[in-house]
Amino acid sequence: MIKFPRFARGNEGTPGMNRQQAEARIATLQTEIRHHDYLYYVEDRPAVSDAEYDKLYRELVALEEQFPDLVSPDSPTQRVAGTPVDSFPTVEHAAPMLSLESDQDEATLRRFDERLRKGLGPDVPVEYVLEPKLDGLSVELVYQDGALLQASTRGDGRKGEGITANVRTITSVPLRLREGRHPIPRFLAVRGEIIMLAQTFDKLNERLIAEGKEPFANPRNAAAGSVRQLDPQMTAARPLHLYVYDILASEGVTGIDSQWEVLASLRAWGLKVNERIRKGTTLDDVLAYHAQTEAQRDDLGYEIDGIVIKLNDLAARETVGWTSRHPRWAFAYKFPPRKEITRILSILPSVGRTGVVTPVAILLPVELGGVTVARATLHNREEVARKDVREGDRVRVQRAGDVIPQVIERIDEPDRERAPEWRMPATCPSCGTPLLERGPFTVCPNSFECPAQLAGRIVHFASRDALDIEGLGDETSKLFVAEGLVRQLPDLFDLQAERLMELEGFAQKSATNLVNALKKAAHVELARFLYGLGIPEVGVAVARDLARHFGTFANLREADEARLQEVSGVGPRMAEQITAFFREPHNAEVLDALLKKVDLIETEPSARPAASVLPLAGQKWVFTGGLTHLTRRDAQEKVESLGARATGSVSKSTTVVVVGEDAGSKADDARKLGIRTLNEEELLVFLRGNGIDV
Ligand code: IVH
Repeated sequence: MIKFPRFARGNEGTPGMNRQQAEARIATLQTEIRHHDYLYYVEDRPAVSDAEYDKLYRELVALEEQFPDLVSPDSPTQRVAGTPVDSFPTVEHAAPMLSLESDQDEATLRRFDERLRKGLGPDVPVEYVLEPKLDGLSVELVYQDGALLQASTRGDGRKGEGITANVRTITSVPLRLREGRHPIPRFLAVRGEIIMLAQTFDKLNERLIAEGKEPFANPRNAAAGSVRQLDPQMTAARPLHLYVYDILASEGVTGIDSQWEVLASLRAWGLKVNERIRKGTTLDDVLAYHAQTEAQRDDLGYEIDGIVIKLNDLAARETVGWTSRHPRWAFAYKFPPRKEITRILSILPSVGRTGVVTPVAILLPVELGGVTVARATLHNREEVARKDVREGDRVRVQRAGDVIPQVIERIDEPDRERAPEWRMPATCPSCGTPLLERGPFTVCPNSFECPAQLAGRIVHFASRDALDIEGLGDETSKLFVAEGLVRQLPDLFDLQAERLMELEGFAQKSATNLVNALKKAAHVELARFLYGLGIPEVGVAVARDLARHFGTFANLREADEARLQEVSGVGPRMAEQITAFFREPHNAEVLDALLKKVDLIETEPSARPAASVLPLAGQKWVFTGGLTHLTRRDAQEKVESLGARATGSVSKSTTVVVVGEDAGSKADDARKLGIRTLNEEELLVFLRGNGIDV
């Protein structure tokens, strides 16, 4: 049985209800639960605790069990309702699903814009809707009288595969539309994109590799593979998301005359619309949006491969029309590709913080989507053998999201003599300990003394989602270990600027900065600290859930496996890993020492786990100038509570700059880089719109 985090099972019964009362109660419960699902999965702003939600859900399950004939297919209990099938039926789309004219060349975009303006004539003002081009799987959803009737893949554009049961398991897909800014239509066919988040993709691939199976090449393939599972339970086990962007056909819908209104209506009907959509009128607006979106590409948590610009006015679209394959009123302005061909210079075994030895391909540097890539992972020795890559080979490499670059395949060069097959060394390249084979993986068992593992632990401890210590990366960590300055994590907090200045690459300023950064980082939230410890299986989300559930480190450390499993997302295997980690005497000793050095920010336990994706997750916000209505610290905390990171300086990857009074150069930087700015007024409106009291 698939366990949705918020879908508790159980039977609390509602004794003494007759059929009529049950029918009314079921309707009320369904409406309430749908509303909470909408807030949680579509808007990412839950309104009730998990406990309250589960209570409603259990009551509904109990009533439906008591009166099985009252179970309707669009009941929230019926998401994972389908049984495995042998194949998917062919489904005709309500309207052809066309593709887009696309190019990464600015000149082609200019021609498109000129052609469009010419086609419309000088008196028609051009307004574009700008949207991210999601790199997922295009699907059609059909709603009949508000209930999800059918979902299908794009296929050849006219007919696709019916994947309804699988799409029903996607939690951001409403099984029933909400009464929106327009009444619920008799018929509505919408188009959207199914995507898999980068973190889900990474986890899925890690698991596939651990099981000795072929990993997916990118999140799009993984999403497509998941949605085409013959068993809906399998789809449900791999969380997917759906963003909608178009109405393909409708009946009983009036008053929608622009793309902007299309998107607003879809959103109001309870479907998820991407939050990055904007309007623009000039080519410069389009270029700025393209530049800004590309700068944020790595921080989104999902893959996009460009932007789509669409004429906003639906009547004007009719004027310019369509070719047989694509509309003349839309254009996909793509980003440079993230796949390139290069050569493997050498293959080096690299020891990670958990002792796993990963073969790393050292590449002839190549630019992938604006970033120079010189290394790519080859995962494990079986993967090297399967791809049959050797030193000197020509290979295709790719970067997907913030995923580490990968070697996709070898390019055959028939006339070239190849190096011998690559072999994993017998001993650890860092500490010389004989390596062990665990499934497809190779592991250095010297957990506590291997310098490479310690350096890896330091890097992880200092990483962005952990203690976020600037200036403590790979090279520096290795140096500290090699110099014997850090023998265990707690030693980090004893580092002295004078001693660091003796090291190569450190000057007075950098040494003082690092020591100060460490001092500051010692005051750390429990969730970040937990994540930084590198407990096997405990990622950012689990660390956050554990911190919320247990509130204090002491509570968590004492928890047994049963108590750990009370936390949503913690299964028996993870619970065992966590208790084993705390039990291990060496870990216990290091932890005791570490707790003396850090000042943990602990909070009251709460029943609610973090929403899986907060509205500002992955975004970086910078504040500059004075605010009058609230303090800057306050404002930063508020955007952080929505998932953003408040950072100090403006860079290409900044999402938003809040410009207060007498703002200095940061405001200019933002404008130069085309980064969105908000004044205090707009910030307040934004915060209120996201349910924050100001
Ligand atoms: S509009 C007639 N908007 O890009 C216009 N497409 O060919 C139909 N895509 O297969 C497409 N994000 O799957 C549109 N915001 C977006 C999109 C988008 C991704 C995909 C779509 C299509 C491909 C382009």
